[in-house]
Amino acid sequence: MEKINDWYFCDLSQTTSTNDAVLDLLKKVKAPCIVSSAVQTNGRGRLGRIWQSQAGNLYVSFAYQIELKNLGHMVILSAVAVAETLEFFAKFGHFEIKWPNDVLANGKKISGILFEKNVDDFWVMGIGINVRKAPNIENPLYPVTALSEFDVKTDRITVLQKLVQNFDTLKKLYEAQGFDNIRKMWLDKAYNRGKKVVIKQNGKEISGILHDLDENGCLLVKTPQGMQKIIAGDIFGL
Ligand code: BTN
Repeated sequence: MEKINDWYFCDLSQTTSTNDAVLDLLKKVKAPCIVSSAVQTNGRGRLGRIWQSQAGNLYVSFAYQIELKNLGHMVILSAVAVAETLEFFAKFGHFEIKWPNDVLANGKKISGILFEKNVDDFWVMGIGINVRKAPNIENPLYPVTALSEFDVKTDRITVLQKLVQNFDTLKKLYEAQGFDNIRKMWLDKAYNRGKKVVIKQNGKEISGILHDLDENGCLLVKTPQGMQKIIAGDIFGL
């Protein structure tokens, strides 16, 4: 069995979704593990959306233990790891994190992350990064881009190796020092920080100034009615 750092690792040529495939590997190895795939035939995104998964981009899922009380922290940390990875490859791109963990390159979506619960504290963290090609989406929620549009010539496995290195480093920092440093790193990269945003959740809209993250990784938005804590939703700039 191959390994990347302490993770068991398997790369597939095709699967339905790496978020499912990593659970097969988890059953075998019963330890933190990673599955990537060249293609996904049924890639999924947040809120039941489809994640188009043609060859050339990175589709990867990590299965590892997270205590429920730390889940929000890992959601935030994962985005910092992805943003740092993209910055490493595309020196001239401007990377920002749209709460909670979408990464934007020059204002266009380049990566998405989907956390799903498994058994016994194990969670699956599925990450998609557009390496070679932005998907062709009719009426996308946000415009999309890929690393190749920043003149980066790399491949999905090289990006994955850097991502694992960055994720492991941040996780060690978090375990040693707690969430606050991670929160600050996230805020430094926050899309629309200090600006007016609208959060849409189940047909409801909240507008205010994107202010901070609380100690659990929830978003704090300053509204005329006071500070509001946001647990879920899609954010749009004005
Ligand atoms: C989103 O922005 O909606 C999250 C997208 C998550 C996509 C990744 S690709 C690897 C993993 N497998 C999936 O089916 N989804 C995640």
